[in-house]
Amino acid sequence: MEWKSKLSGLARRIKALDDFVVVHHYDADGCSAGAIMCKALQRAGKRVGRKWVKQLYRETIAQIRGMGTNFVFVDFGSGQLAYLKEEFGERLFVFDHHQKTDVVHENQFSPFDYGINGGTEISASGIAFLFALEMDRKNIDLAPLALVGAVGDVQDFSGKLIGLNSQIVEMGSKSGYVKVENGLRLYGRVTRPLVQFLMYSTSPMLPELTANEGNCVKFYRELGIELKKGEQWRNYNDLSLDERKALSTALILRLNSFNVPEWKIQELFGEVYTFPHENQKSPCSEAKEFSTLCNACGRHGMADVAIEVCMGDREEKYFEALDLMAEHRRQLRQGIEHVTKNGVMEEEHYYWFDAGQEIKESIVGIVAGMLYGSALIETNKPIIAIARNEDGTLKISGRATKELLEKGINLGMAFREVCADIGDGSEGGGHSVAAGLKLNADKIEVFRQKLNEKIAEQIAKRNGIRGH
Ligand code: C5P
Repeated sequence: MEWKSKLSGLARRIKALDDFVVVHHYDADGCSAGAIMCKALQRAGKRVGRKWVKQLYRETIAQIRGMGTNFVFVDFGSGQLAYLKEEFGERLFVFDHHQKTDVVHENQFSPFDYGINGGTEISASGIAFLFALEMDRKNIDLAPLALVGAVGDVQDFSGKLIGLNSQIVEMGSKSGYVKVENGLRLYGRVTRPLVQFLMYSTSPMLPELTANEGNCVKFYRELGIELKKGEQWRNYNDLSLDERKALSTALILRLNSFNVPEWKIQELFGEVYTFPHENQKSPCSEAKEFSTLCNACGRHGMADVAIEVCMGDREEKYFEALDLMAEHRRQLRQGIEHVTKNGVMEEEHYYWFDAGQEIKESIVGIVAGMLYGSALIETNKPIIAIARNEDGTLKISGRATKELLEKGINLGMAFREVCADIGDGSEGGGHSVAAGLKLNADKIEVFRQKLNEKIAEQIAKRNGIRGH
């Protein structure tokens, strides 16, 4: 395995050095990757500093330059390799799963170099984990974090993790740090009371249950499932095996009776990754909930809290993270309400809305993605959200669905190419289904027009290939 020998080569090189700074992204994948990297280095007896950043821009270098000797970038760096290389030379290490540019560096690990798709088969946390194993096999206990990042980047969108990720799942299960269950994939098995578990489901939408509290209560009553045990609201984890089966069957029948297509019904089920070494009542016991906890911290300026929890804190920082999670949920709900009230616009090749100052730029992309579960937009076009950065520039977030990937749409590439066209300090990129960029406010019209053209081009290119 070529990728493995590249990682073991990097591990050898890193073992010979000291005084590291781990620079990581602030979302779930960035924080879990950062935590894995810090742990692996600390366990190898290295001095390690760390710094999270929202987005890696040229200006970031000035903030980190004096922090240490060797710089390890996780979850970004591929797109920024040219100036990182210029600044850090051979003191630079990059472990990233984002799309690459033409620039190369001997200490850069990119899955794309080995025919592995960094968008769907491995995340930054997965790469960091595989690297950590090359440092020391004892780092196998970090397998849960590798899955937290992958799920945070929605690499399980087909119902389960695939490719190199699935090998990590296997390693995690064999060592007992991960448990794989096949079952209902709705979000909130651990933290949502039963009614909210159904009521907030957006993928798939549950006809007349999503956003309908009264019907959800009735639905459980008809199944004979108690909502409370004593004073305590029950959640999915508290259900017996028979209750779980009854709930799944009833949901299938309901979706069927509303003529929901088979493939949508399938979205309800798939692999769920839980972590037996954690308290089973904690969001840290399940990959999706753990990743939401990290996002909640990171996207609200507290990625340090997330990384402490990833590195094992289950006391002070953990409780702080739980509070941030509640706040995150409140802001997402508010964001969705705002867009619902103000509406979404439609161009030929994408939907869009301008959130003004009403939705934080750090969560506007999440809000945009959640709209796919609402009646506001269909899944036939990407959605583009506009918000304000603190410095007055615009933050643009884009989200697409897996159906759109099949049409040839790649938002990360579209954003990068449009930025290159516009110039003027605009910088962007990301993944095929989730991308972002920064733009000067007076360039918004030209951006919107160019994006429309770029997406049209991507679709035409795919159709052209099909036509041959
Ligand atoms: O912020 P948001 O969640 O919309 O970001 C989606 C993706 O776009 C992330 O992977 C992020 O790294 C990427 N992005 C980028 N350049 C930006 C903003 C976001 O590459 N200026």
